[in-house]
Amino acid sequence: MNSIFSTLPIFLALSVASAVAEDTALVVDADQPIGKVSPLHYGLMTEEINHSYDGGLYAELVQNRAFLDNAGRPVHWSVVQGPGAAATITLDRAAPLNDILTNSLRLDAAYDEEEGGRARRPNSLRLDAATASKSGLAGIANDGYWGIPVKPHTKYRASFYARAAAGFKGPIKVAIESDDGVTTFAEAKVSGIGAGWKLHTVTLKTGNVTPTAKARLVLSINRPGTVWFDLVSLFPPTYHNRPNGNRVDIMQMLAGMKPSFLRFPGGNYVEGDTFESRFDWKKTIGPLARRPGHACCWGYRSSDGFGLLEFLDWCEDLKMEPVLAVYAGYNLNHTHIDAGPALQPCVQDALDEIEYVTGDTSTQWGAERAKDGHPAPFKLTYVEIGNEDEFDRSGSYDARFAQFYDAIKAKYPNLKCISTIGTEHRSQMIHSRKPDVIDEHYYSAAADFDRDSPAHWDKYDRNGPEIFVGEWAAYEDTKPWETPSRKLPPTPSLKAALADAAWMAAMERHSDLIVMQCYAPLFVNVNPGARQWRPDLIGYDALNVYGSPSYPAIRMFSQNHGDAILKTTVANPPLHYSVTKDAKTGDIYLKIVNTQSTPKLVEITLRGLASLAPDATAITLSAPGSGDSNSIDDPARVVPVTTTVRNIKPAFTHTFAPWSITVLRLKGVSL
Ligand code: AHR
Repeated sequence: MNSIFSTLPIFLALSVASAVAEDTALVVDADQPIGKVSPLHYGLMTEEINHSYDGGLYAELVQNRAFLDNAGRPVHWSVVQGPGAAATITLDRAAPLNDILTNSLRLDAAYDEEEGGRARRPNSLRLDAATASKSGLAGIANDGYWGIPVKPHTKYRASFYARAAAGFKGPIKVAIESDDGVTTFAEAKVSGIGAGWKLHTVTLKTGNVTPTAKARLVLSINRPGTVWFDLVSLFPPTYHNRPNGNRVDIMQMLAGMKPSFLRFPGGNYVEGDTFESRFDWKKTIGPLARRPGHACCWGYRSSDGFGLLEFLDWCEDLKMEPVLAVYAGYNLNHTHIDAGPALQPCVQDALDEIEYVTGDTSTQWGAERAKDGHPAPFKLTYVEIGNEDEFDRSGSYDARFAQFYDAIKAKYPNLKCISTIGTEHRSQMIHSRKPDVIDEHYYSAAADFDRDSPAHWDKYDRNGPEIFVGEWAAYEDTKPWETPSRKLPPTPSLKAALADAAWMAAMERHSDLIVMQCYAPLFVNVNPGARQWRPDLIGYDALNVYGSPSYPAIRMFSQNHGDAILKTTVANPPLHYSVTKDAKTGDIYLKIVNTQSTPKLVEITLRGLASLAPDATAITLSAPGSGDSNSIDDPARVVPVTTTVRNIKPAFTHTFAPWSITVLRLKGVSL
């Protein structure tokens, strides 16, 4: 045992008290910064998976609002027939709202042909009420994303397009009611329904109701008639009151993480299963009625209500820097577009996209952004060319990357280009251009992170490209992409969080090299059938949101990262640790992760300080069992506890609890 304080009485006492404790010594040279902590180190990664936006962050409450999710049936819609009413609802392809809202799950021409030309036809929902009265309404009802969240004293904004057959002018009653139709929580009336399509907007206000998600949105009439509906929408209050905005509770969770960047829109979502189902950004901007949506690669349809500008607004709201991934010619079905003239339209699309993000209003796409409501350009430093292109076994990425790289650098010399093939796939890496950054993804068993974290980054060349760990997460045992993981809860336990923290400590220690990193996936709707992947960081249903134990772990790191990495020597490795300092405040952040079931005693020496405050703050995340976790019904089972640690001296010992993540915030004064 290599102990530098083994003669101290306190150490002896603690050793005796916890005979199983393994001791370690850690010496910090507080006057010797060995690298800078990247200010962008902690960020978010996001894509449409697990109902991240539709049925997630995007506050829209109506599922299948434009009747496009299924070509044959108005899924999530049902007919309402009060006492004595007789009505039917059907998808109707006649006299559509416009020629943009098409109903194809696959937007390719071949499929359209197979479907006899019907696949690309626009849709609306037609209500035929043969009989209806004040006491027996006829209408259409939407069941939302696993319910419609009803909260007390809350204003909802409903909107819809409608037109009617001759003889019907309204009114249409718009109501949020219980799913059995017995209780009305809020209602309003719309009149002036005519023969041509018209947009109607109303406010619905709830009273003193008990929160529930067992609710539906109903649009109904009290006399016979035929009415067509399209783009039926319902929004609760949104974060910063943005129209077409985000859920407040989820945004608050994210704000607590103090994220510095947002990697979007994927992930696989940027690539799509096919060329047609890639993230085609030009179809995700502008008025909602002009966004057709697309088949998302995770098995459901994206409305694209959450489009390019919504990603950017999200960045603005949380003061994050966008890290923009552009489609680079590879699809998940292993098809690709060869570099050269065939790829040029995709390169041009990427240049246009960058202009939409960064251009001033004198540029074509900057002006388009202004028209969409945001005249000021966004800051952009990093552009990612594709996603996980190591899956493209054809070897085409080198030339595709070069074509994007050259075009981007020619127009935007200050932008940094990220390659998506990491060091783990050395043989496939880019040779013809030197990427500014490489994106590496790690989904690892907890035991593997535990074992590999301490030494993993030591082998990296400090003169090579910067590293972006654009996706990472520990899973307990079952691989995320394997079927048994579907039977497990959507978010992981403390066991995974400990491994995540071990991994984060290693990444932070190397944050001179690792400029950015982010957990993935960020979100999961916890309702049965809503998810495609686990583990995930933040879970929600229509009413509530919670974080897995990895969520507070990430918060603890991102809120306590300082700006300099301090020289630290460990006498008895391996130990999961990171020691950093904030130059402005003098605070020293000492992070220790104990992944074991026994306490860990660490002898800590701080050298190179003029003085050290006797009190320190300890933030500790732990639980009685490593299998403990949080859930939608038990959201605060594993949460951090903040305590004051007294008698801090330049040499002191601290016992770190079994299965714990600790941040010790020490106040030092430099020499
Ligand atoms: O995070 C889930 C998926 O994992 C991402 O879409 C993809 O990039 C990775 O394979």
